[in-house]
Amino acid sequence: MITQIKQLLQQKNAVLVAHYYVSGELQTLAEETGGLVSDSLEMARFGQNCTAQTIVVAGVKFMGETAKILSPEKTVLVLDERATCSLDEDCPSAEFAQFCDAHPDRTVVVYANTSAEVKARADWVVTSGSALKVVKHLHDNGEKILWAPDKHLGNYVKNATAADMLLWQGACVVHEAFKADALLVLKSKHPEAAVLVHPESPQAVVDLADVVGSTTALINAVRDRPEQTFIIATDNGIFHKMHEVAPNKTLIEAPTMGIGADCESCAHCQWMAMNTLENCLSTLKTGKNEILISPEVSQKAQKSIQKLLNFTA
Ligand code: 13P
Ligand code: SF4
Repeated sequence: MITQIKQLLQQKNAVLVAHYYVSGELQTLAEETGGLVSDSLEMARFGQNCTAQTIVVAGVKFMGETAKILSPEKTVLVLDERATCSLDEDCPSAEFAQFCDAHPDRTVVVYANTSAEVKARADWVVTSGSALKVVKHLHDNGEKILWAPDKHLGNYVKNATAADMLLWQGACVVHEAFKADALLVLKSKHPEAAVLVHPESPQAVVDLADVVGSTTALINAVRDRPEQTFIIATDNGIFHKMHEVAPNKTLIEAPTMGIGADCESCAHCQWMAMNTLENCLSTLKTGKNEILISPEVSQKAQKSIQKLLNFTA
């Protein structure tokens, strides 16, 4: 399958862009074929800058949509069109528009994990790696913010910047499951470990972190920090890259189960798990799962995403 995928990528002038949460074999394939493995911000930037005519996105739907919005002239394929995200699902565009209409005095900032329609309504799109910087900038300019959809990331940014933020109440089902009480117990068993937390996690878990950051920031922390042991509160797909950049370090999954549960952690996104070598091959063979967005929505969403890319360049 790997050989066939490599041949098809070449034949179709296509590039594979993968998120850190998909399987290790897809991540390796992306890197071996001149594609990219990264966080959602750099996936978006790479798709826009690459010369390939087709972008194959191994991740979830919003990542495919972002790639298409930034490169409307390119063909964008996702591996499974059912691969969505609970944050995207939690924020239907019609209800979101009503929320915005009710607060016209606020600058609308949305997380990248949203539909193209929601992005089209936003003034700014941000990712976990850029949210603090953008909101701080807006707050320094005296702007009040309407934030959607992740309440945990929103709360983290609000606490860190003291910005006036009104929060939509969405959540990531994977990160919301991390448990602070069980993490405290795990920390006491490994007092030497640094705790790394993605900011989609609940505040009580963020409060126990040594590092809070995007997937890229957490990988860099494993590589660069002096500790030998790390407790990691994010999707366990990230362990593939962490083991690669720091093969001698010990990585422990943060608990998603409370004290006394039979298993300890099951932190893997069901939608990221839909990305397989099998559907990569069949998508490339058939050209199915193409992302299509209406030009009107696309042009509006493009403005708010491009603002982020320019701001973080
Ligand atoms: P990053 O932008 O940190 O890669 O996060 C995307 C995501 O979906 C996390 O759950
Ligand atoms: Fe969405 Fe959470 Fe899955 Fe990321 S891990 S894609 S935020 S459901």
